[in-house]
Amino acid sequence: MENEVLKALKNRRSIRKYRPEQITDEELTAVLEAGTYAPTGHNKQDLWIVAVQRKDIMDKLIRLNAQIFNVDTNPYYDAPTIVLVFGSPLTENPNTIQNGSLILGNMMNAAYAIGLGSCWINREIEMFATDEGKELIKEFQLPENVMGVGAISLGYPVKNPSKALPRKENYYRIIK
Ligand SMILES: Cc1cc2nc3c(=O)[nH]c(=O)nc-3n(C[C@H](O)[C@H](O)[C@H](O)COP(=O)(O)O)c2cc1C
Repeated sequence: MENEVLKALKNRRSIRKYRPEQITDEELTAVLEAGTYAPTGHNKQDLWIVAVQRKDIMDKLIRLNAQIFNVDTNPYYDAPTIVLVFGSPLTENPNTIQNGSLILGNMMNAAYAIGLGSCWINREIEMFATDEGKELIKEFQLPENVMGVGAISLGYPVKNPSKALPRKENYYRIIK
């Protein structure tokens, strides 16, 4: 079968080169809103999405992530927007990683659907367990005990994404 949604799901790619100009607020809210429509276990919605476009905070995120990754490059690939997802600690909700991952997936697919580029960027669990990360959680005015789940870089791609990588053989099976 084919339709526009299926096409978008198959054609989305991770983008690692962004144009410097900022995306519009309309584009950003479309992506964030798509994130909020991801299902959550028991419909708890105990997650928080923070879009960062402020230079000083982005610089902190880049430094914290790069320290954990042990690189001296920008792990967010100079994207003009970074979107972070936080959730309740696992002691309060064992579904936080699953819930947060669905939010991130929705946002990446929505970004592609409206012509933006995105890439999942890891290490938020470790970043927001540090003292500096916890300061940022306060600055974002989130509940103090939240944990980082993941992030996406977001912006206009420098070029159109290349075709999807081939899928492995026997990725799925149907038992009837
Ligand atoms: C859980 C997870 C963590 C990832 N972390 C990173 C990351 O830190 N940096 C990065 O450049 N890409 C990261 N990626 C993107 C993957 O490398 C990418 O999705 C994969 O290579 C397939 O490419 P595609 O998204 O273009 O289909 C991550 C993806 C997932 C799902």
